[in-house]
Amino acid sequence: MPYEFGNSNIKVTNADTDDSVRLREIALEANIDAWTAADYSEEIGRIDSIVLKAESSNGEILGFLVARIVPSNSAGQDAELYNIAVRPALQRSGVGGLLIADLFQRLRIDEVNCVWLEVRASNSNAINFYSKYGFTNVSVRRNFYSDPTEDAVTMGFAFPALPTVTEM
Ligand SMILES: CC(C)(COP(=O)(O)OP(=O)(O)OC[C@H]1O[C@@H](n2cnc3c(N)ncnc32)[C@H](O)[C@@H]1OP(=O)(O)O)[C@@H](O)C(=O)NCCC(=O)NCCS
Repeated sequence: MPYEFGNSNIKVTNADTDDSVRLREIALEANIDAWTAADYSEEIGRIDSIVLKAESSNGEILGFLVARIVPSNSAGQDAELYNIAVRPALQRSGVGGLLIADLFQRLRIDEVNCVWLEVRASNSNAINFYSKYGFTNVSVRRNFYSDPTEDAVTMGFAFPALPTVTEM
């Protein structure tokens, strides 16, 4: 979907398998646990996966996210957010917010109840980012990450319940 962003337009769309090398490069630049290009490509091909890219008007990829729809522990379905990264020079200028907003619109249409994610406990920028967009801290998983070993903070976002339609 197109968004106004400063003087330019940023479009958030589904990533293509052709984008997988660029997604890995951005993940490395943003210093997250980058997947291989083959892993991004495979994820893009999965039916239960949502891989979104934010693109400038000249077709340059500025950031991306990877999420998957999963069965909920209660009823219905949830989503898990695995990766989100924005090119360092553009961080803190709203690109990540556009990606999350687009993801939420899509998940709402799919009647997803909650979105879950894990983030390194030391990544306060990302924790602040997720909090800004409505996620709350749910629990801590001790020593969840390796290289370096670190706790994970589990965060969740719950969509408001949809009104029930009663037949007259
Ligand atoms: C986390 C990330 C995806 C957010 O995307 P973004 O485009 O920078 O985020 P937005 O501009 O939409 O939102 C900005 C908010 O995020 C937080 N934030 C993002 N970068 C920050 C920074 N360098 N310092 C402090 N807060 C930061 C703040 O809450 C900020 O709100 P504020 O400016 O009102 O204080 C991006 O910063 C990034 O790629 N970080 C490195 C990779 C990463 O840690 N990914 C998450 C774990 S997989």
